[in-house]
Amino acid sequence: MFAPILVIGRGFVGSKVVRELPHAVSYDVDIADRKAVRGVFECVRPKFLINCAGKAGSPNIDWCERNTEATWRSNVEGVRILAELCAEFDCFLVQLSSGCLFRGAALSSCGWRESDQTFAPNFYLRTKLEAERIVLGFPFSIIRIRLPVDSEPHPRNTLTKICSFDFVTRGCNSITVLDDLVYTIRMVLKERTHGIIHCVSPDAVSPSHMRRLMISAGLASRNFKEIDTPELEELKLVRVARSDAILATKRLNSLGIRLDPTDRSLANVISRYGSFVT
Ligand SMILES: NC(=O)c1ccc[n+]([C@@H]2O[C@H](COP(=O)([O-])OP(=O)(O)OC[C@H]3O[C@@H](n4cnc5c(N)ncnc54)[C@H](OP(=O)(O)O)[C@@H]3O)[C@@H](O)[C@H]2O)c1
Repeated sequence: MFAPILVIGRGFVGSKVVRELPHAVSYDVDIADRKAVRGVFECVRPKFLINCAGKAGSPNIDWCERNTEATWRSNVEGVRILAELCAEFDCFLVQLSSGCLFRGAALSSCGWRESDQTFAPNFYLRTKLEAERIVLGFPFSIIRIRLPVDSEPHPRNTLTKICSFDFVTRGCNSITVLDDLVYTIRMVLKERTHGIIHCVSPDAVSPSHMRRLMISAGLASRNFKEIDTPELEELKLVRVARSDAILATKRLNSLGIRLDPTDRSLANVISRYGSFVT
């Protein structure tokens, strides 16, 4: 079988990646079960593995605080097994990580760089950081994403989420368009680029601005209140604090990857989103 690219994780991101990436196949395997994963490696002999599996909680990361064992098992032990087997089978691993690993929105006007000091104030982020630490021990790649948006409605799609909220935050954030993520993965696989890469659109945007764009497109109710991000916790809408994060795209650009301006990408994604729901 010709299947050099293996995608694991059949959630929001994984389903998109396997659909859009040429020569990709998906396997339903528990990544924390070493024997089962080894069986998949022996069967598929992948040259590349994209790990889109992980526990991000349902409906959100608050779940991870109450389910630490399951979260650690998938997000840390599973990643350790994948990294070790990738090294053994000469397979290049791309690990998906979070762009929320920083203290505050941004250190400078260009946003947080890949090399900046990380910060993990909740259990979910602690597991993502530990997974990064493991993967950085190998010549593999880590792609950090932030507020992923796509043209298909999905409970994890940021556009779907913000349309269902009564309170939407006004702080500026980086966003990741899933089409851009797929393009970035293709480039990373081509060059076998090592280390951490921030895959986000060039300009930051606020969730409340995205809600207004969805309202203008006739895809969301006007009925919402704009709040600051710390108010999410004060109003008890979330259990663990959330923060805004703006990521630098200098490294992405240095790899020859230049993504469309955020407003153009959003207009395109929202217009296609409309055709899914109307
Ligand atoms: N969506 C976001 O806002 C966001 C932002 C930044 C980073 N990320 C990262 O992007 C990656 C993909 O996220 P997503 O949004 O696609 O999440 P998702 O929709 O929840 O998909 C993750 C998938 O992984 C599966 N999974 C969990 N533990 C597993 C295990 N041990 N073995 C195999 N599969 C397992 C989940 O199955 P179950 O549902 O059965 O557990 C789910 O199908 C994750 O690493 C996440 O941390 C996501």
